[in-house]
Amino acid sequence: MLTLSTLLSLPVFLSTTIIAHALAAPELTYRDNKDDNDNLAASLTGGEKCDKKELKAIQEGFVEMNKLFQASIKVNWNRSAEQEFFGKPERLQNYTAMVEANLLRASQYSYLQGNTTRNPDIHVRCDDPMKKCQECTRKEGKHVAYTIGNDPHINFCERYFDLPKLDDAVEKAAGNLTSNLEIMSYYNRATAWARQVMHISAVGVGVVEKAVVNSQSQTTFVWTTYQYTGPLNVSFLAGVKNEHPDTNGPNNIEALKYGYGANRAKLLAVLSTQMPYDALNNPDNYALYAQARYVMEKKGLYPNFPVMQFDDEMEVLSNEQLQDGARPRYACFDALDIV
Ligand SMILES: *[C@@H]1O[C@H](CO)[C@@H](O)[C@H](O)[C@H]1NC(C)=O
Ligand SMILES: *[C@@H]1O[C@H](CO)[C@@H](O)[C@H](O)[C@H]1NC(C)=O
Ligand SMILES: *[C@@H]1O[C@H](CO)[C@@H](O)[C@H](O)[C@H]1NC(C)=O
Ligand SMILES: *[C@@H]1O[C@H](CO)[C@@H](O)[C@H](O)[C@H]1NC(C)=O
Ligand SMILES: *[C@@H]1O[C@H](CO)[C@@H](O)[C@H](O)[C@H]1NC(C)=O
Repeated sequence: MLTLSTLLSLPVFLSTTIIAHALAAPELTYRDNKDDNDNLAASLTGGEKCDKKELKAIQEGFVEMNKLFQASIKVNWNRSAEQEFFGKPERLQNYTAMVEANLLRASQYSYLQGNTTRNPDIHVRCDDPMKKCQECTRKEGKHVAYTIGNDPHINFCERYFDLPKLDDAVEKAAGNLTSNLEIMSYYNRATAWARQVMHISAVGVGVVEKAVVNSQSQTTFVWTTYQYTGPLNVSFLAGVKNEHPDTNGPNNIEALKYGYGANRAKLLAVLSTQMPYDALNNPDNYALYAQARYVMEKKGLYPNFPVMQFDDEMEVLSNEQLQDGARPRYACFDALDIV
């Protein structure tokens, strides 16, 4: 018999598909705000090991996420918010269309607004089947949620339930004149949801680039690169110092600097060492951009800190603190939140 533990020892791509089917449960019965739910194009199902209060926080966060994405769809590439989170139009060239299409799909995935298309239900759970919630130390941060297999299948970790509600976070942060320009001070459960939804293959589409050997003479290889599209995982900072020592042993793990948080998200969009599509491939860039647009709509101000402009890129590439940004960290910075 296939038990959960044998499932988990199967290769990830196989086991996630099986789990999704084996444990899929009927639609959650939690319903608080009927009007909001009637406008949603996708339902939440599952709910393994979530208690009633947790289900409520998940469902309300989902509804709040829809408000974020509704505020983000009218993109204007002349504006700082777009340029800081995705790159200047000269850098992005025709990738701007992919960013706009991703934001539009994110807003349509879950919001009906007269559109009769139902989207696949999202399987939510709290039982941490891939054991990712506790995998990091406090120093590296911990995941608040993770997505399984680029599918509509999201596990919510303990730390999600400590996040404030969207409008509570916005009111509190905007009312504090010492920190009201810091984008991360507005972080809330809707932003956490938004990052996960961008991982779903029916929502986020990014650029995958592969190099193949085109021809080969005695001494040289001629490489050709080609591009195709794929679902979004997490981009990482390239060309930055790796903080893990080179031990030459089994512990010699490369620590990738994953694109979590506002500092790294914005660095992906400006550094010359990044590809022009790295920012558009990274879920947090959409989540934080949508959060900024929501604050702009509600409060008439753009929280533009941290500002990522420098005279000397080399300095940035060696400045760990700058790359990491403010605490608390809303992800395990050393690991993917997609398995
Ligand atoms: C953006 O700026 C360009 C050049 O200043 C201008 O022609 C264009 O109309 C602007 N677009 C929007 C959407 O504001
Ligand atoms: C961008 O334009 C190039 C050249 O016209 C084309 O090959 C490529 O597919 C376009 N990319 C996107 C994302 O539209
Ligand atoms: C309705 O939603 C689907 C998927 O979410 C989308 O493909 C379609 O374009 C939408 N239709 C309209 C009229 O917005
Ligand atoms: C305002 O923000 C600053 C910096 O984050 C913090 O130290 C301070 O306690 C906040 N003030 C209030 C009233 O919350
Ligand atoms: C993300 O990961 C999936 C699964 O490994 C892969 O198929 C896809 O190409 C990746 N997407 C990008 C943009 O690299």
